[in-house]
Amino acid sequence: MPSHYEVIIIGAGAAGLMCAASAAYRGRKVLVLDHANKAGKKILMSGGGRCNFTNLNSTPANFLSDNPPFCISALKRYTPQHFLDLVERHGIAYEEKAAGQLFCQNSSMDILQMLLSECEWAGAEIRLNTRVQSVRKIAGAYQLDTSSEILQCESLVVACGGLSIPTMGATGFGYELARQFGLRVLPPRPGLVPFTLQPELKTRLAPLSGISCPVSVLCNDQHFDEPMLVTHRGLSGPAMLQISSFWHPGDELAVNVLPDQDALSLLKAWRTDKPQSSVGQCLAQHLPRRFASAFADLHAWQGPLQNYSNAELHEIAETLSAWTIKPAGTEGYRTAEVTLGGVDTRQLSSQSMASLAHPGLYFIGEVVDVTGHLGGHNFQWAWASAVAAANVV
Ligand code: FDA
Repeated sequence: MPSHYEVIIIGAGAAGLMCAASAAYRGRKVLVLDHANKAGKKILMSGGGRCNFTNLNSTPANFLSDNPPFCISALKRYTPQHFLDLVERHGIAYEEKAAGQLFCQNSSMDILQMLLSECEWAGAEIRLNTRVQSVRKIAGAYQLDTSSEILQCESLVVACGGLSIPTMGATGFGYELARQFGLRVLPPRPGLVPFTLQPELKTRLAPLSGISCPVSVLCNDQHFDEPMLVTHRGLSGPAMLQISSFWHPGDELAVNVLPDQDALSLLKAWRTDKPQSSVGQCLAQHLPRRFASAFADLHAWQGPLQNYSNAELHEIAETLSAWTIKPAGTEGYRTAEVTLGGVDTRQLSSQSMASLAHPGLYFIGEVVDVTGHLGGHNFQWAWASAVAAANVV
């Protein structure tokens, strides 16, 4: 006889653990399964080890989806303040880094331990090292053939996450299950991911590796004002990670390296005040020195400013305010923080995350086609979608 649970959740990550505790507090008999040897591996590596667990300014505008209104209901009903109340009840020390971005002061482990304690206190069971081999619907129940035994449940919650960082246990199993039950999966692609560059630009920027400067980056009508970081592989930093979610292969980026300045007025003022200085020397007043000089070399802006005509300064100003880069690609799922696309939300209830065609089958967290901007929004979606499902399973 298969062991019977009211709720089985596949995936002991952020969304799965949150859903398990919340459903178990409602008195449901809950089991969480994960093929990995540890729960919440991505929580541990998140936020550089300090887990940016929510964003106080999170609104539906911070999410990408083919069906943007879908996320509104869940995000409205479980807000960043709700999660912060939980964090405070557990006495976890936290700090606000950039506006609204809340990080653990000590370690991401605090958030994982909080979720595990919540699961234990509520009575949810977690079983690791367990592979789900197949799922079938039999007489209104879901039957799971796992590497340890056969299990049955009325509500099956898929919280398998996306494809990013396969070494942390990511698989496409959630998408496979969705397809098996006839749900459409919008093509997954890596998001919040560094760009790689064409060999020539990569070589020329290589000496700048490790340098960061504030920029404004534009692509496909989206722009972000954040720091850009040059790495030995290409371009990263918050500005590049954010815009990568809106970039498609072949697209160009326009980078304004003097985002708060009128570049032409600056160049003209420099030419008047310091006619014998080079463009690089003048740029160094507003940009990191090494970046300024390498940027000037890259564009062959040599010689004193007094040698430049108005038309030439105009051209330089255009390059400074819209430096056009055509990335070779991205680093892909190996380093992407999230996976865009996923289970099409038009086939889910925005109230409960249940499949409209198969009530009893739920999809939560990153496996769903809702992806947040950088800055704690993705965890907020994991918590909010988990609670939406937990309230009805
Ligand atoms: P998650 O990936 O957390 O969990 C999925 C679980 O399912 C895993 O435990 C996995 O082992 C399991 N699983 C997969 N396939 C399975 C199968 N076939 N059978 C059984 N189990 C299976 N977000 C944010 O808001 N703030 C931040 O600071 C960061 N930082 C960050 C850093 C890095 C390096 C990454 C990669 C990601 C982030 N993120 C983030 C994003 C955030 O980690 C992500 O959005 C959430 O973890 C998604 O939660 P889920 O529960 O949906 O998936």
